[in-house]
Amino acid sequence: RTLLAGMLLSAFALSGCGQKAPEAAGASAPVAEASATGGDVKEYVVGTDASYAPFEFQTDKGDIVGFDVEVLSAAAAKGGFKVKFINTPWEGMFATVNQGDRDILSSAITITDERKQSMDFSDPYFEARQLIAVAKGVSDVKTFQDLKNKKVAVQTGTTGDEVVQKLLGKTNANIKRFENMPLALKELETGGVDAAVGDNGVVINYVKNNPQHGMVTVEDTKSFAPEYYGFAVKKGNAELLGKVNAGLKAIKADGTYDQIFNKYFGAK
Ligand code: ARG
Repeated sequence: RTLLAGMLLSAFALSGCGQKAPEAAGASAPVAEASATGGDVKEYVVGTDASYAPFEFQTDKGDIVGFDVEVLSAAAAKGGFKVKFINTPWEGMFATVNQGDRDILSSAITITDERKQSMDFSDPYFEARQLIAVAKGVSDVKTFQDLKNKKVAVQTGTTGDEVVQKLLGKTNANIKRFENMPLALKELETGGVDAAVGDNGVVINYVKNNPQHGMVTVEDTKSFAPEYYGFAVKKGNAELLGKVNAGLKAIKADGTYDQIFNKYFGAK
């Protein structure tokens, strides 16, 4: 009896049941086998604005790397699919997934109710918050409210853009919009604006890596709500969403997610 139980157990383990995407239940054996041999694994095209260190950025050689890249790649390995990252401008990115030019968007995208109308999001994989950057020493900005009559740089169409719009008014000329976050932060460096507002991880990373420009960050947890990043797929693509979520669940359960998190942000 013990021997039989042991045999059953190893058969269970070999069937690769831990890696199966949920919708594969009816065809579990062939799917698991294909995944194991790499034979029939689907490759999905991933859109990412690779100007967003440490989440997605390019090495000198042009490789796209970063926290999001590692999380999605690890989830793909567990979820039984492959991913290919393609640098994609943030502006217009959401349309690419609906047109079918991109299968997945992985770009530190905050899950919002408005965006959920046009795309489906994976389970959240990261918590973020807006953060203000100002010039060191000379700025009197202590809270978000202090930006009321100031010039503020943001990345167009981001949640940073949205919060600043709420404070200053959508059409206020004091909002300077840029196509990517490094350009918004450069505008602060060169004195074109009084502040920049963006996702905390990116702002912290930039300020830390550009000490010669004398910028500091100003936190305001009362004004800025927590935001959650998700991977986006075309609305209704339940098959792919199921695979992404199954992969995410697996890497959260087996410690891979924590390993990647610690590599980029230090222990929680
Ligand atoms: N989290 C913010 C948003 O969803 C900013 C994301 C920008 N991402 C990027 N890769 N440029 O609006």
